[in-house]
Amino acid sequence: MTDSFISIRNLYKIFGPNSSAMISRAKSGMHKADMLKEFGHVLGLRNINIEIKKGEITVIMGLSGSGKSTLIRHLNRLIDPTSGEVIVNGTDILKLDRLQLLQLRRTQMSMVFQKFALLPHETVLTNAGMPCSVRGDDRRVIDKSAREWLHRVGLSGAEALYPHQLSGGMQQRVGLARALTSNSELMLMDEAYSALDPLIRSSMQDLLLELQEDLQKTIVFITHDLDEALKIADHLVILKDGEIVQQGEPQHILLNPADPYIEDFVSDINRARVLRVRSVMTETISGSTDLELLDGDENLEAAILRSKGEAGKTFAVHTAGQQVGTLKMTDVLKALVPAARRSNPSNAE
Ligand SMILES: Nc1ncnc2c1ncn2[C@@H]1O[C@H](COP(=O)(O)OP(=O)(O)OP(=O)(O)O)[C@@H](O)[C@H]1O
Ligand SMILES: [Mg+2]
Repeated sequence: MTDSFISIRNLYKIFGPNSSAMISRAKSGMHKADMLKEFGHVLGLRNINIEIKKGEITVIMGLSGSGKSTLIRHLNRLIDPTSGEVIVNGTDILKLDRLQLLQLRRTQMSMVFQKFALLPHETVLTNAGMPCSVRGDDRRVIDKSAREWLHRVGLSGAEALYPHQLSGGMQQRVGLARALTSNSELMLMDEAYSALDPLIRSSMQDLLLELQEDLQKTIVFITHDLDEALKIADHLVILKDGEIVQQGEPQHILLNPADPYIEDFVSDINRARVLRVRSVMTETISGSTDLELLDGDENLEAAILRSKGEAGKTFAVHTAGQQVGTLKMTDVLKALVPAARRSNPSNAE
């Protein structure tokens, strides 16, 4: 599963009346704050390159104003870039005319919004089937599919209710069912869970991961919550002031932060809970049969519990019934110390 579904190449977005004239300044590295102060233009995105893989969850994260929404809006061309390319499923979407673009949005993409965006005077069933109604599909087929997806997201029995009769979490489940009913490959989720309270949010993350295991959609998920990002991302892109500071597998970013900004960003994370045994183990396969087995997908917290506090203990790490490596508890201890502290011991608070 390594094909790109979307390629974003050398993408720049500058907001302002004379944006193309600002491109050379953006390319030569002018800072966002200077461009605003000297020229009154907002540098939205600078030189963004991302390969969004088919069947993966790509999470775009960054603080408020870092450019997350601007970036996701380029994928359905709600925004045109000042320069650069966006290729969706082999099509350069900047070359599409209005009708082709509409067709692409209706057949290949769905969106899940933070504010749910349900139609208040339509039932849950009608809301869930909306993308197919807009496409003109047969009513009976739509209702059947909408019912099935409502069932999958845990809303069986709520079909005849109206949005105001649902809690926020339930409304977001309708939003998710609506995106799934559209049967599109790509799901765009801009802060989809940010309005939900923590417990509901966490159960919606679990639901998404559970569905994803079966469906393997291509999902672009925006959040400013690092815990959420680390939980659901296959590929994590961290934006700051319109630029990518680091992108890669979340575990890799945690263990190898590219610069002090990322180190600081990830410093409050519960590393024992987020880091997995497979990311920390060595790939040596021990011939010894005396070692206790540990699953590579367990987190370090589980490894610590299993060690019963014995720092000298070593585990044989298994994945899908095969030994894939060896985990020493001393490696666990090292991994719990952030990279900056490991390389510079005097860097303590
Ligand atoms: N239409 C616009 N005109 C001018 N500036 C804009 C426009 N849209 C966005 N911007 C600017 O682009 C930058 C990125 O905004 P964007 O909305 O993409 O941030 P974000 O990461 O989604 O933030 P948030 O977490 O608050 O949603 C900001 O500096 C913003 O002020
Ligand atoms: Mg936003």
